[in-house]
Amino acid sequence: MLRLALPLVLSAVALAAPFTPSGGLGTNSTPPVYQPMSDFDFQSLSLGLYQEYIELDLFHHGLAMFSSDDFDAAGLNAQDRFLIEFMADQEVGHATLISNMLADTAAKQCNYTYPFESVRDFVDFCQKLTRFGESGVYGFLEHMNSRAAATLLLESITTEARQQMIFRQFEGLFPMPEWFIPAITQSMQWTLLAPYITSCPENNTHLEWQNFPALNITNNPNVTSLNPPAISSNTTYSISNPGRTLNLTWESPGMQVGPDGAYNTSTSAGEPKFVAWISQLNTTYTDLTIIGNNSGSTVQPGGEIFGNDTFSTINGTIFVLVTDANPYVTPFNLTMLNQHVVAGPAMYQSG
Ligand SMILES: *[C@@H]1O[C@H](CO)[C@@H](O)[C@H](O)[C@H]1NC(C)=O
Ligand SMILES: *[C@@H]1O[C@H](CO)[C@@H](O)[C@H](O)[C@H]1NC(C)=O
Ligand SMILES: *[C@@H]1O[C@H](CO)[C@@H](O)[C@H](O)[C@H]1NC(C)=O
Ligand SMILES: *[C@@H]1O[C@H](CO)[C@@H](O)[C@H](O)[C@H]1NC(C)=O
Ligand SMILES: *[C@@H]1O[C@H](CO)[C@@H](O)[C@H](O)[C@H]1NC(C)=O
Ligand SMILES: *[C@@H]1O[C@H](CO)[C@@H](O)[C@H](O)[C@H]1NC(C)=O
Ligand SMILES: *[C@@H]1O[C@H](CO)[C@@H](O)[C@H](O)[C@H]1NC(C)=O
Ligand SMILES: *[C@@H]1O[C@H](CO)[C@@H](O)[C@H](O)[C@H]1NC(C)=O
Ligand SMILES: *[C@@H]1O[C@H](CO)[C@@H](O)[C@H](O)[C@H]1NC(C)=O
Ligand SMILES: *[C@@H]1O[C@H](CO)[C@@H](O)[C@H](O)[C@H]1NC(C)=O
Ligand SMILES: *[C@@H]1O[C@H](CO)[C@@H](O)[C@H](O)[C@H]1NC(C)=O
Ligand SMILES: *[C@@H]1O[C@H](CO)[C@@H](O)[C@H](O)[C@H]1NC(C)=O
Repeated sequence: MLRLALPLVLSAVALAAPFTPSGGLGTNSTPPVYQPMSDFDFQSLSLGLYQEYIELDLFHHGLAMFSSDDFDAAGLNAQDRFLIEFMADQEVGHATLISNMLADTAAKQCNYTYPFESVRDFVDFCQKLTRFGESGVYGFLEHMNSRAAATLLLESITTEARQQMIFRQFEGLFPMPEWFIPAITQSMQWTLLAPYITSCPENNTHLEWQNFPALNITNNPNVTSLNPPAISSNTTYSISNPGRTLNLTWESPGMQVGPDGAYNTSTSAGEPKFVAWISQLNTTYTDLTIIGNNSGSTVQPGGEIFGNDTFSTINGTIFVLVTDANPYVTPFNLTMLNQHVVAGPAMYQSG
């Protein structure tokens, strides 16, 4: 359980300046530095930039791939298409912002491949991709050396959070079935992103993050034909419930992935034993039942975020991984899980 310290109540503490309590960081006249201040910052911002570029390409690609009739048939009209176009414009802004912070060392736009052939599957893919972009940035923002750069990135990622919610609404899903948005590590984000990048300009930034072996939930709920688009729907059914069996298959390490196959998947974990569910504030583990080589099953857990009659912990678009251990981790030390990842994450459509 997270132990949150109560606010310190100090009496008669001197103010740093009029109406300015002492403490805090970056609140004096030192000029903010909107640049990476460490290799960690550089690699994190570069990962963010790779993410913004694929979103920019993806939104345009979907608009170009399907006709107006296709969109209309999926319940998305001209105004909805304009909103997707506007989101693409937002991505131009976000990519510009990060490129400016990285200056000469900013990566460039790549080529991509996408796993959808219908408007509904396009929207579902956008909903999942924006979620892992969002969760990936939440995972590293507060760990950056440059708090100034983190502030700018925060102002772009909150926009992306709104995009994710709109894509859920375009699917007719409940817009935000969670009390908290989960964070993941950079290596988890890069694992999810890299398979869709086919090629990049020759000297593009090579990311240092790990690519874990791919994980597939072979019976992931398919929500694309459930509901018409709606601002909100009273989900009178659950897309999945505690007790549901998940069947999983995963790759062995050593596969080439990412642009031009320039990255190799790897793991430092031992035998697969658990399934980690990263959802909201919680990383919850369930036992993995091995079915065969690189395949197994587990059962969706229950649990409510702050105990009975609060809200289901496992809900929304979440992250599932196969691990060799079940260390207790909380949002700020999730990185400690990386060394235990056998495969994944995969995105589970739980609500
Ligand atoms: C989820 O995390 C919160 C915050 O750490 C904790 O209070 C709660 O007990 C956890 N809930 C479950 C079901 O694990
Ligand atoms: C997930 O959230 C939705 C929307 O609030 C709710 O209808 C559903 O019952 C929740 N799922 C679970 C497993 O509790
Ligand atoms: C993208 O693909 C096109 C067509 O194959 C190729 O001409 C171009 O060089 C590629 N661009 C990048 C950045 O890899
Ligand atoms: C790649 O090379 C070109 C041409 O030399 C240069 O303009 C660009 O800044 C380089 N990009 C990176 C990411 O180093
Ligand atoms: C995941 O499993 C499903 C069901 O077997 C399959 O249709 C799909 O192609 C698999 N996805 C990947 C990326 O291998
Ligand atoms: C989901 O179901 C629809 C048909 O209802 C199908 O066209 C689509 O390919 C399925 N999506 C996935 C990812 O399996
Ligand atoms: C929403 O669904 C729940 C569960 O089926 C039901 O109890 C409730 O009356 C519904 N509310 C509305 C406004 O339709
Ligand atoms: C899914 O997992 C269950 C429980 O382990 C198993 O009985 C079933 O055969 C699995 N299904 C597939 C398609 O592998
Ligand atoms: C990936 O593995 C191949 C050999 O299988 C090796 O030649 C290559 O250098 C590796 N690439 C990286 C980025 O580690
Ligand atoms: C697992 O792999 C080993 C070695 O490749 C092979 O001998 C064995 O038959 C496989 N088992 C299953 C259940 O596929
Ligand atoms: C939650 O409810 C169950 C069943 O009523 C009860 O056994 C359990 O003690 C409750 N847990 C908490 C944390 O209140
Ligand atoms: C992560 O932080 C929690 C406190 O929030 C601590 O109890 C736990 O031991 C830490 N996990 C690891 C693996 O260090």
